[in-house]
Amino acid sequence: MGLLPSLKMLLLLIYFFWLPRAVRTQLPGPSTTSARPLDALLQDYAFQAFVRPRTGAVYNGVVPSNLSDITVSAMRLRSGSLWTRGVRMYKEFFIPMGVLGHPYVERLVLVYQNLGNLSALYYPLPGYMYLAPVLGLLAYDASNLSAKNLPELDIRASRQPILINFSNMQSLPKGSVAKCVWFDLHGLVNFSNVASGNVCSTFQQGHFSIVVKSRAPSPAPVSPAPPGRAPKAGLLPSGRKKNNPKVWIIVGSVLAGLALLVLLGLLGLWGEKFKHRKKMQQMENAAEFKHRKKMQQMENAAEVGEALHMTTVGSTKAPAAMVTRTQPTIETEYVP
Ligand SMILES: *[C@@H]1O[C@H](CO)[C@@H](O)[C@H](O)[C@H]1NC(C)=O
Ligand SMILES: *[C@@H]1O[C@H](CO)[C@@H](O)[C@H](O)[C@H]1NC(C)=O
Ligand SMILES: *[C@@H]1O[C@H](CO)[C@@H](O)[C@H](O)[C@H]1NC(C)=O
Ligand SMILES: *[C@@H]1O[C@H](CO)[C@@H](O)[C@H](O)[C@H]1NC(C)=O
Ligand SMILES: *[C@@H]1O[C@H](CO)[C@@H](O)[C@H](O)[C@H]1NC(C)=O
Repeated sequence: MGLLPSLKMLLLLIYFFWLPRAVRTQLPGPSTTSARPLDALLQDYAFQAFVRPRTGAVYNGVVPSNLSDITVSAMRLRSGSLWTRGVRMYKEFFIPMGVLGHPYVERLVLVYQNLGNLSALYYPLPGYMYLAPVLGLLAYDASNLSAKNLPELDIRASRQPILINFSNMQSLPKGSVAKCVWFDLHGLVNFSNVASGNVCSTFQQGHFSIVVKSRAPSPAPVSPAPPGRAPKAGLLPSGRKKNNPKVWIIVGSVLAGLALLVLLGLLGLWGEKFKHRKKMQQMENAAEFKHRKKMQQMENAAEVGEALHMTTVGSTKAPAAMVTRTQPTIETEYVP
């Protein structure tokens, strides 16, 4: 009897602990969780590089040592100059003329980010490995250079796209196809083709890199997860691989989910058997009851029949009694 409630309980447990997590890890959510605070932090470090800034010059920021490999730069520009001239080369970015910021500000700051060996940490991309560090290009209002937590301006290229020349790209694994990946500021991920071997293009700001699909195929959800993530650590030193908690959350969730499914399956089987046995028992009981009732009826009928036979009809009553008498014998043979 406690079977149904416990099944419901299990389903609830799965719903609350497994499914939401599984769904969450599949969303391109990372850039809206840990990556956005990083953007705010790097905006601050980049702005701190400005000391009596000249327009159009590149200023390299200093980041704290716990952000090890990350580098930031900042460039202040007039919006008019960005629109009419663009920026010939800003680190890896080539910004053509015709780029406009919304809302309009007189001067803006273009913050450049290179996430180095922390790329996969802040922009995890299951099933892919990075061939180049994740680079960011974000625009801010330049009116207050000591402001923190500034919202980004929305910059768009109206004519030609902004080009990103990944100059220090890892060599392409044999037989694989490189793809440009673009993370917009809301966590959307979009892939596009690589031009000239190492150039990506974009009409908007965000974070960019070049990736290839990980070697490990991913037909089943369990086994490929660790190898799928591991090659991405190509950018990370090998000791780092195992420390990514997200991998273990995913693997753990999947394993736990599978275990629960197996358990559910077993419970289901057991429940079926239980129900079956119960039904059989009920049927047996019912049959016995029917059998007894019939026997009694027949006995009664026999008595009445005999009584009737004694008095009048005879031939019409006797065959009917014969038919009803044989049925219970079939049932009693059938049941045990
Ligand atoms: C380390 O980084 C965090 C943010 O990621 C920052 O708040 C903290 O101040 C940094 N610590 C040092 C010692 O730089
Ligand atoms: C990234 O590389 C730097 C050296 O460039 C190293 O000091 C640091 O420990 C590395 N960080 C991680 C998380 O691997
Ligand atoms: C600039 O931003 C800083 C930090 O948010 C703030 O303290 C300061 O008042 C601002 N200055 C102006 C002129 O808005
Ligand atoms: C990319 O940069 C490299 C040097 O860093 C240069 O030789 C190459 O021509 C550039 N490619 C494009 C398409 O700008
Ligand atoms: C994603 O990229 C494709 C080209 O690869 C493009 O057609 C599509 O519009 C892009 N999606 C968004 C939301 O920008």
